[in-house]
Amino acid sequence: MHHDPLLFWREEFPILDTCTYLVSHSLGAMPRRAATYLQQFADEWSSRGVRAWNEGWWDVGRTTGDLLAPILGVATGSISMHQNVTVAQAIIASCHRFDGPRNRIVMTDLEFPSNMYLFEGFRQYGAEVIYVKSPDAVQSDMDGLLDAIDERTALVPLSYVLFKSAFIQDAAAVIEKAHSVGARVVLDVYQAAGTVPLEIERLRADFAVGGSVKWLCGGPGAGYLYVRPDLAPQLQPGIVGWAAHADPFAFAGGAIDYAGAPERFQSGTPNVPSLFSARAGYEIVARIGVPAIREKSLRLTRRLMDLASEAGFRVNTPQADEERGGAVIIDVPDGKRVADELIRREVIVDYRPGAGIRMAPHFYNTGDEIDHAMSELREIARTAP
Ligand SMILES: Cc1ncc(COP(=O)(O)O)c(C=O)c1O
Repeated sequence: MHHDPLLFWREEFPILDTCTYLVSHSLGAMPRRAATYLQQFADEWSSRGVRAWNEGWWDVGRTTGDLLAPILGVATGSISMHQNVTVAQAIIASCHRFDGPRNRIVMTDLEFPSNMYLFEGFRQYGAEVIYVKSPDAVQSDMDGLLDAIDERTALVPLSYVLFKSAFIQDAAAVIEKAHSVGARVVLDVYQAAGTVPLEIERLRADFAVGGSVKWLCGGPGAGYLYVRPDLAPQLQPGIVGWAAHADPFAFAGGAIDYAGAPERFQSGTPNVPSLFSARAGYEIVARIGVPAIREKSLRLTRRLMDLASEAGFRVNTPQADEERGGAVIIDVPDGKRVADELIRREVIVDYRPGAGIRMAPHFYNTGDEIDHAMSELREIARTAP
């Protein structure tokens, strides 16, 4: 096997010594440095107390967002940090009104469920939620989605990479159509960031959201919200708190005087420990560079798909490189049982109903791990329960 410089990073991820870790589409491995940063947070809390707010804690949302900016392909100062994607989506929704003729939220039926739950909740404010039916669980009906976006559309939530199939959707086409009729696109890049190169600003996405537990290896509690810099000053989020005030420490009463971006999209006190721990993963991903991660990911996902096809399994992931994100979904009979048995054998994967077993190599995985996982999968699938 040729020398793979990315394997240098294995040592930084302790879990790789204990199992075959192929689940970075769900929870990326923890970098050692995350523990160092958490300790730093604890030390600052312990030794600096309230003074820590002025020594980095208060601005931690902005500084953390700036670390993410090159990974997402956006300018510094355009990202605010939130508890999770759901909260970020709620803040975006609260910048819009749904009681007029432009009250539609249009998406495919393959979006992540919490995106649906959240926007469904805005029906009570007049929103109409339209789902474009997909032909199967792998690919959405892009033409149907483009047709459904019209002058009545306010928002189009769109996963850059679908969570169930790793299918890469044509974000450029959706954004172009949306803008031609005055609608805005909320790109959910959770399943892309850290494994598929992103140029969100060049795409002219109005908003982008995502979190850090997956390919960014950043752990929970570090969701991000990007707002197009020229759009941000026009928006007035209804879900807002004192950290979004132009002068929060004036403690002025009454209506808010919004800060500039990205702070105007913040709510209250930032989630300091989560943002400290998330930094480690961002730094490593940015240092390696997503194009190098992508090149390896395509090579290893191809190997997974070839081995799965050889074994006669159905692959629910696009074959074409340009349509495939970082995970491979393999549909085997009795998939839930097979996934459970793989995990019992220390091959860590997951299972999604209607799709199959999801497996995902990241920059720290080896070709041997792929071969081992597939040989275990074949053996388990061959044995009846
Ligand atoms: C594409 C996508 N969007 C959103 C989410 C959920 O985001 P959160 O839990 O941060 O609200 C997931 C999570 O698993 C996801 O895969």
